Amino acid sequence: MKHNIILIGYMGSGKSTIAKELHKKTGMEVIDTDEEIVREQGRSINEIFQTDGETAFRELETALLRRLSEKTSAYILSTGGGMPVREENRTILKNLGTVFFLKADADTIFERVKEDTQRPLLKGTDQLAKIAGMLEERTMIYEWAADYVTKTDGKTVEEVVSEILCILRN
Ligand code: S3P
Repeated sequence: MKHNIILIGYMGSGKSTIAKELHKKTGMEVIDTDEEIVREQGRSINEIFQTDGETAFRELETALLRRLSEKTSAYILSTGGGMPVREENRTILKNLGTVFFLKADADTIFERVKEDTQRPLLKGTDQLAKIAGMLEERTMIYEWAADYVTKTDGKTVEEVVSEILCILRN
């Protein structure tokens, strides 16, 4: 088994929540790529998108992944929803650890993110259509990037975490 646990998936698919629960069960450190970028930049994701644009944010994501490749202790990596879109990132992620795609459908995601104001790509009207459109574009990409696909609709956090741990133990 590769030693790190990598969680990928669309915004609101539960990556941060599952990462925290995995931490409770394994004691492994959690690294959240959005949080790392916000901390190192000293500004929010919204500000980075507004001031520097999405491409600059994507550069920061890739630079962070390259740095994480140097880290030797085991960790759980919760990635921003767009991380696997770049091919280079998909290659790095696969080398970093076992990659789980947390898959949720558009309605589930919409319910989870509809009140959120911190995600620049979901701003504006007709959020559900936006989510459905992006999911259609990205699902195949997430599947390419993943070692395992874990469906989260209708499952508890504990159920998803047990599935992941079960896979890792086998
Ligand atoms: C993004 C997802 C966000 C964050 C940024 C862009 C995306 O992370 O990285 O707003 O392109 O899907 P979460 O998936 O943690 O919300």
